Amino acid sequence: MRIDIVTLFPEIALAPLSESIIKRARDAGVVEVQAHQLRDWATDKHRKTDEYLCGGGQGMLLKPEPIFAAVEELRQESTRVLLMTPQGRPFKQADAVRFSREEHLIILCGHYEGVDHRVIEELVDEEISIGDYVLTNGAIAAAVVTDAIVRLLPGALGDARSPEDESFSDPHLLEAPAYTKPNNFRGMEVPGVLLSGDHGKIEAWKKKHALERTKTNRPDLLE
Ligand code: ADE
Repeated sequence: MRIDIVTLFPEIALAPLSESIIKRARDAGVVEVQAHQLRDWATDKHRKTDEYLCGGGQGMLLKPEPIFAAVEELRQESTRVLLMTPQGRPFKQADAVRFSREEHLIILCGHYEGVDHRVIEELVDEEISIGDYVLTNGAIAAAVVTDAIVRLLPGALGDARSPEDESFSDPHLLEAPAYTKPNNFRGMEVPGVLLSGDHGKIEAWKKKHALERTKTNRPDLLE
């Protein structure tokens, strides 16, 4: 799989993807991730990428010409184009799974007040938001989405770890609380059932507590 991120801040996009699991996946050739400087596709002598809003209004918008040029250059036969924007559809684990099956993604990152709408109408397959808050730029969101996708690719997590047994694999239930050694820490005990070796009882305990945690933290998942 290949992921091309187009942004005014390639270093912000790449920093979280250059450590640990995602770095190893990239080094192993599980995925090729590139972050491109949008300004490289600007044609005027000031390499301008933004403009004032038509019709007035606060802030600046990314101009269409450099974004069209970038996508036209990077696009392959089978490419899905995503735009990171708080105006997008909320990004879910199911989207990460779906995108992980694509051959090639181009992830466009918004900045300022966003992008000229002709980009969305002509080039973008999906507008994606990572949550109901506004970041300074979409490169952070692109790194989040890329991380969630790449860890799902075969070979990315290594043999011992599987992405299947975790929260949001079941989209209606969070994971149960988890404990490790020591069994007694400052008088706080690991629940006895988890040390019992009785797998039936352990599974029942996990299910009950997963449900309780979901009710407390994410009641919306149970609706
Ligand atoms: N750019 C700024 N805020 C964002 C968000 N919440 N999701 C995706 N892209 C963004």
